[in-house]
Amino acid sequence: MVRVTDFAEAKRRGRKLKMLTAYDYPTARILDAAGIDAILVGDSLGMVVLGYEDTTRVTLEDMLHHTRAVVRGARRAMVIADMPFLSYHLGVYESVRAAGRLVQEGGCKAVKLEGGMEVLRSVRAIRAAGIPVMGHLGYTPQSVHLFGGHRAQGRTLESARQIVRSALALQEAGVFALVLELVPHRLATWLSQRLDIPTIGIGSGPGCDGQVLVTQDMLGLFPDFNPRHVRKYQDLHGLCLEAVRNYARDVESGAFPTAEHSFSLDEGVLEALEKEF
Ligand code: KIV
Repeated sequence: MVRVTDFAEAKRRGRKLKMLTAYDYPTARILDAAGIDAILVGDSLGMVVLGYEDTTRVTLEDMLHHTRAVVRGARRAMVIADMPFLSYHLGVYESVRAAGRLVQEGGCKAVKLEGGMEVLRSVRAIRAAGIPVMGHLGYTPQSVHLFGGHRAQGRTLESARQIVRSALALQEAGVFALVLELVPHRLATWLSQRLDIPTIGIGSGPGCDGQVLVTQDMLGLFPDFNPRHVRKYQDLHGLCLEAVRNYARDVESGAFPTAEHSFSLDEGVLEALEKEF
């Protein structure tokens, strides 16, 4: 079972941490079997599973429902649940309560939340309740409307400074790891060397201490979504489409099902039914 202490150990030894997202039991089983260190129940759930435009529509109840499914499928990997929009913006009490529910009812081992200076009080309070917290800086999807789109962050000196200050403050507040999303790779590498905690990059280059991707993106489930930071390891959309078309063709032609897909009947049953009805 992977624990927060293994994250620190990986950083010390220079072992890259591998994280992917999952929102259901079968995917969690696959990631776990493949030796992924941490499974993030990301609020990307909103887009890749629930069909919303962004993550702001995802609720705590949605996160609890999917976290429970993922936890049932993960034996070794550490399950981390995203705190959804508005679950940690309304004060420390609400933040601890939401994080506590994700652990107590969802069964995850840690939570992740987005933001820098503005979330420090929540990070400290959640941690004080005994819950490990992962930070998330750079492009933070819950602020998509503020950023005006899916954009790299930290490219100018002032914006890079803000990321560095926030990262140091989050480390000081006790986060055990930090996601860096769409941060220029030289800045992400420099910051990863400067921090004691591991950084987990997404679109932030190879110098981070670990990597994360949305599983549906790296498996090619959405043919029209081709962001620069994703490598597609499979064309799941194409494979599934072909399989479903084959099924439809076989049902139409009568090639499926055959006798081998059904069950035998005891001798004499049909004859008895004929007489009775
Ligand atoms: O919600 C999510 O999937 C995430 C990752 C992309 C880091 O936050």
